[in-house]
Amino acid sequence: MAETLKTWRVLDILKVTEAAFADKGIKNPRLNAELLLCDITGDKRIELYLNFEKPLTKAEVEAYRQHVKRRLAFEPLQYILGKTEFYGLNFRVNCSVLIPRQETEILVEKALEYITNCKPDNPKILEIGTGSGCISAAIAANTVCEIDAVDVSPEAVNLATENASNKELKGKIIFSVKDLFNDINSFEGYDIVVSNPPYIAASDVPGLDEEVNGYEPVIALSDNDDGLSFYRKIFQLFNSVNKKPVLLLELGDGKKEQTINLLKENGILSYKIFNDLIGIPRVLLVESYK
Ligand SMILES: C[S@@+](CC[C@H](N)C(=O)[O-])C[C@H]1O[C@@H](n2cnc3c(N)ncnc32)[C@H](O)[C@@H]1O
Repeated sequence: MAETLKTWRVLDILKVTEAAFADKGIKNPRLNAELLLCDITGDKRIELYLNFEKPLTKAEVEAYRQHVKRRLAFEPLQYILGKTEFYGLNFRVNCSVLIPRQETEILVEKALEYITNCKPDNPKILEIGTGSGCISAAIAANTVCEIDAVDVSPEAVNLATENASNKELKGKIIFSVKDLFNDINSFEGYDIVVSNPPYIAASDVPGLDEEVNGYEPVIALSDNDDGLSFYRKIFQLFNSVNKKPVLLLELGDGKKEQTINLLKENGILSYKIFNDLIGIPRVLLVESYK
């Protein structure tokens, strides 16, 4: 009872929340506490620091408590805030899409580099598994191109469409609900195929962090097989067309050797693999010839 009547100042509520997050082993406990409070008060982080003594209203304390409760249950910060940043752009996210990862920015970087250096005229791009639409939107925002972005999840396609509309990119990207294994029969007509596919083996899913396993959609994480089925299908489609597109695919941690074997099995001998910022082989580039 005394608890509900207490007036909370910014400084005090941040301290208590930081300690609770640290106790649970949540990484960056102070930053999490601050970002959740900013979401409630509408302040920028710097404004929290300038207003440490400010008392919070009862409604603000209650709303913050709800946020903190969700975070203590390991719900990812981005789902609670309903947004995240990727390649300098803001994206709405919810539990029907994967939270865009920083390492995926390398895939965008390589796609933009390829488009700039090789200068395909107004390239036609296919993105498989668009999720929040982050990859397609980042490419479309930075180059002249036409993109078909597909995902098997209708909820993801809705959110991706909304994210692209917010950036006035809707005219450059056509989103549709498609299943790679049933609805895509050819790569004919595409200059580039880009994908960050679900690459976690089904057997590795139970060992994932609670934040990932408990909240992110399983179809975004795993192929429910050995983690390689998307690559198999993509290489098969690549081999079945005469004018081959460039493939730009994200690789999972520890998947380099298996992917190289798969490339060999498919007779694909010309490729490059790029590391991410912490040295993990992350992006596979297959040139448009064997
Ligand atoms: C790893 S997530 C990538 C999401 C987003 N492109 C990103 O990089 O943040 C993989 C995406 O593939 C989609 N997906 C899963 N199975 C699929 C299938 N059979 N056909 C097309 N998309 C599929 C999932 O819904 C998910 O959005």
